[in-house]
Amino acid sequence: MASNNSKCWDESQLRNYDLNLEQIPRLHCDDPAVDELIAANKPVVITGSKLVESARKWDLDYLEQNMGSGDYTVFISQNHKFKYYDEKKIAKTSGFVPPTNKLDMKLPDFMKRLRKWKRGDDRMYLQQGLNNTVGPEIVKDFLKFDWDFCSGKQNKHHWGPLTSNLLLIGMEGNVTPCHYDEQQNLFAQVHGHKRCILFAPDQFECLYPHPVFHPHDRQSMVDFDEPDYNTFPKFRQVRGCETVLGPGEILYIPIYWWHHIESLMRGGHTITVNFWYKGGANTSVTYPLKDHQKVAIMRNIEKMLVEVLQDPKEVSPLLRAIVLGRYTE
Ligand code: FUM
Ligand code: FE
Repeated sequence: MASNNSKCWDESQLRNYDLNLEQIPRLHCDDPAVDELIAANKPVVITGSKLVESARKWDLDYLEQNMGSGDYTVFISQNHKFKYYDEKKIAKTSGFVPPTNKLDMKLPDFMKRLRKWKRGDDRMYLQQGLNNTVGPEIVKDFLKFDWDFCSGKQNKHHWGPLTSNLLLIGMEGNVTPCHYDEQQNLFAQVHGHKRCILFAPDQFECLYPHPVFHPHDRQSMVDFDEPDYNTFPKFRQVRGCETVLGPGEILYIPIYWWHHIESLMRGGHTITVNFWYKGGANTSVTYPLKDHQKVAIMRNIEKMLVEVLQDPKEVSPLLRAIVLGRYTE
């Protein structure tokens, strides 16, 4: 992979995967091609914007002094992976063991643990929605974000409302495994470098998502570190794109695009703020349907079946019964 954002990192800091990946285009925010890509639901790295300029001073000391005395959500993992799970779906899934622990921590405790962390210790990943409990200085910085920039994208591309801004403070080497979100995301890098590997919604079959009723809904079942090609043979064919995002850069992650995010190894901690927007209301559906619309339909069918069958285990046999013979070429 070519290093685009100066020589701040090298290939040895990237984890090793056997994947077929192209580079995500990297364009200045004034380049009209940025909006062409966004309009086409394609990812793009946007450089030169001032979106989170006011947060560029957010080093660990500044955050510790200014984030206030509230509780922050921190995930703890015994390895480098922080696979998301939906707590509300745990009760209905027998035998599910959450891969990470979710803790409420005070900022000074988090920082203390971060500073004295050594290889072999549990890893931490702070993931906290930015709201008005974060301390007045941080709120001031937050208000100074370039809201015109992101509202401009929201309006131009007919996105729905901004739902949240998530602050992520990660340790070097942390990985958020491959998943998709049901929202548009302007993913703004504040500190450190993150490698982002993306796959289009049409790669659905190659990435084997967990069933929608499972706590790991929207997450790929494939472990990128050790892909089980017998169980997930189409993963060999998956095609994606990647970039390494540096401070001040924004990655547009289109709705329903799969993403795997890793804080570079030996790169120090990382700070990101993401801006999540609802997808636009589809007033006029045009055909052929786009791949992300098909994913949304598949999710709805799956949800409906779980609801009427009342037993998730019955979904797969029923779907097979519909498909096999009648719809298999
Ligand atoms: O680790 C991450 O930065 C993940 C972000 C996301 O999935 O949106
Ligand atoms: Fe995500």
